[in-house]
Amino acid sequence: MLPYNEIKDKLRSMLTPHRFNHSLGVEKIAVLLAEKYDADVDKVRIAALVHDCAKDIPEDKLIYTANKYGLELDDVSIAEKALIHGPLGAKLAREYFGIEDDEILHAIALHTTGGKVMNKIDRIIYLSDFIEEGRKYEGVEYLRELAFIDLNAALLKSFENTIDYVISLKSLLHPNTIYARNTLIMEMRKNGGINK
Ligand SMILES: [Fe+2]
Ligand SMILES: [Fe+2]
Repeated sequence: MLPYNEIKDKLRSMLTPHRFNHSLGVEKIAVLLAEKYDADVDKVRIAALVHDCAKDIPEDKLIYTANKYGLELDDVSIAEKALIHGPLGAKLAREYFGIEDDEILHAIALHTTGGKVMNKIDRIIYLSDFIEEGRKYEGVEYLRELAFIDLNAALLKSFENTIDYVISLKSLLHPNTIYARNTLIMEMRKNGGINK
């Protein structure tokens, strides 16, 4: 893997300034959450920094690039191309930054849709993307506070916000987001963290 500063410089050249700043914002809050919830800070820092490395690939090049990296695309991702930058980002992270760590790559791949099985790093990256300091939407401050009180409750809220938003746009819901929410709710019920 390239040293941190080289990753950062290379990433800057791959993203718009706005997206690069967003990435720094995600890194900042993800590191705080990793410290709070005792996750691997170094892995979280890198995953957060590079999570959107494929985000500024023009939409008409996404399918071609995905094919080039042998990524299998499901129907929903083909119809909603913005979803591709998650799994594609994991491929680019390996190629451009030499990131081989499976946990880092998994968290990057899952950050757009979530997934049925999400470990602590996946959860922190997904949530941080949602609540970094550059995000402005109603309820974001509440979610930022909740993130440091109850990671899973904040994650659940962010899945639900995403689902509501996707429905409001009449867009397609990715099944992985539904799986992610279902798994989380079952887990929270088992731990007594949510009432039926
Ligand atoms: Fe993203
Ligand atoms: Fe992002």
